[in-house]
Amino acid sequence: MSLFAVKSLERIKAESERGGEQLSRTLGPVNLIALGIGAIIGAGLFSLTGIAAADNAGPAVVMSFVVAAIGCAFAGMCYSEFSTMIPIAGSAYTYAYATMGELLAWIIGWDLVLEYAMGAATVSVSWSSYVAKLFHMYGIELPPDLIHCPWDATPGIINLPAVLIVIAISCLLMIGMAESARINSIIVVMKVAIVIVVILVGWGMTHPENYVPFMPENTGKFGEFGISGIFQGAAVIFFAYIGFDAVSTAAQEAKKPQRDMPIGIIGSLVICTVLYILFAHVLTGMVNYKVFHGDAAPVATVVALFPTWMQSSIVLGIIAGYSSVILVMLLGQSRVFFSMAKDGLLPKVFCDVHPKFHTPWRCNMIFMVFVSLFSGFLPISKLGHMTSIGTLLAFVIVCIGIVVMRKTNPNAPRPYRTPLASPAFPLVPGLGVLVCFSMMYSLDIETWYRLVIWLAIGLAIYFGYSRHHSHMNKPMQ
Ligand code: ALA
Repeated sequence: MSLFAVKSLERIKAESERGGEQLSRTLGPVNLIALGIGAIIGAGLFSLTGIAAADNAGPAVVMSFVVAAIGCAFAGMCYSEFSTMIPIAGSAYTYAYATMGELLAWIIGWDLVLEYAMGAATVSVSWSSYVAKLFHMYGIELPPDLIHCPWDATPGIINLPAVLIVIAISCLLMIGMAESARINSIIVVMKVAIVIVVILVGWGMTHPENYVPFMPENTGKFGEFGISGIFQGAAVIFFAYIGFDAVSTAAQEAKKPQRDMPIGIIGSLVICTVLYILFAHVLTGMVNYKVFHGDAAPVATVVALFPTWMQSSIVLGIIAGYSSVILVMLLGQSRVFFSMAKDGLLPKVFCDVHPKFHTPWRCNMIFMVFVSLFSGFLPISKLGHMTSIGTLLAFVIVCIGIVVMRKTNPNAPRPYRTPLASPAFPLVPGLGVLVCFSMMYSLDIETWYRLVIWLAIGLAIYFGYSRHHSHMNKPMQ
């Protein structure tokens, strides 16, 4: 079988409809939007907004949010078209299989581990620092050795709260999708409420002089203010948008995927973009942007100006809000490996469905172990950059895939069509590739090396195991 043989749409559909190990279809449009917002609003907004304002864009960080949103919107439209054509768990991995063949599908599936598993680990580490802050507000200091990994600026032994939250959420995911979605929806309501409270209360505390100059002059170095600062700021806060694509990994659990997937993906992206812009505008209006230099908790800095009773509720809400990001990331991870194992590219253990809970519980358990190790022992900056580069690579491949699909399957039903994406004039996918690649380009060289090493390990597994076990080599039973 050629490395570039694609899996036909008919085969994908037939395989998914075949009985056996099925996930249950429990999610409607509101659940899907909640799933998206659950994955999107988190460490990016609550910790990177201030850093991007202080180091890159000043009050024009709102423009950085617009630039990153545009890149995500292009990719989001491509994801939506695919998710209605191929409503199967596994998202970008399955799309690549149908358009660019098994090798690229493998590469993207392997790459998505960076987005979902590393993303969950990144957020769990930030979660741990907000937990430590909350305890501090009540006069309790957690032992430093147990809240820092050995490679942090203040070295410790293990980041224990980060490990514990990963274990707790993995257990929830093993119990059931409906339960997880319910808890996610409650958390999302709280999280959005916090963002709105900060916007409304903070709005009255903004000072016009903090917005002058709106776009500080470039210092002479690329990315330090001016126009280039807005773009570099966009690459920094891109992390805040990661997650809307996780909606596509739940396609097999959506009640009416053809109608609801675009609503979930684009709806959650639009809602978050509006909230982010308002939030960033308020933050940079309450205090001068320079105050945020080196501050990974800008929200804590500005809520210090709020009434005391509000302060700990907001931090508590942020802690709860982070949990839903971890939940959706771990969910996405298990669904991608579920699909890869169904195709024979990974051992069957990753697609064993629990007889009672109907969840891929063994897969959840394996990732619980791996992600806990990342959370407990790796520093946040490394994890965060790996998450961003992995996600951007997935977006680039999906944007290219949509054009390939239009060429190879021009007549397949497309309940949702990406605008301006014909092979003759692929403007939207082309701009998606351009914006996402320029954000990848602005990440540091070490992150690129790590990406290459990660992909090399993936290729070794593919040629050593997956290629020989692929079900594509066997006729469909
Ligand atoms: N977008 C998610 C966050 O900011 C990953 O936490």
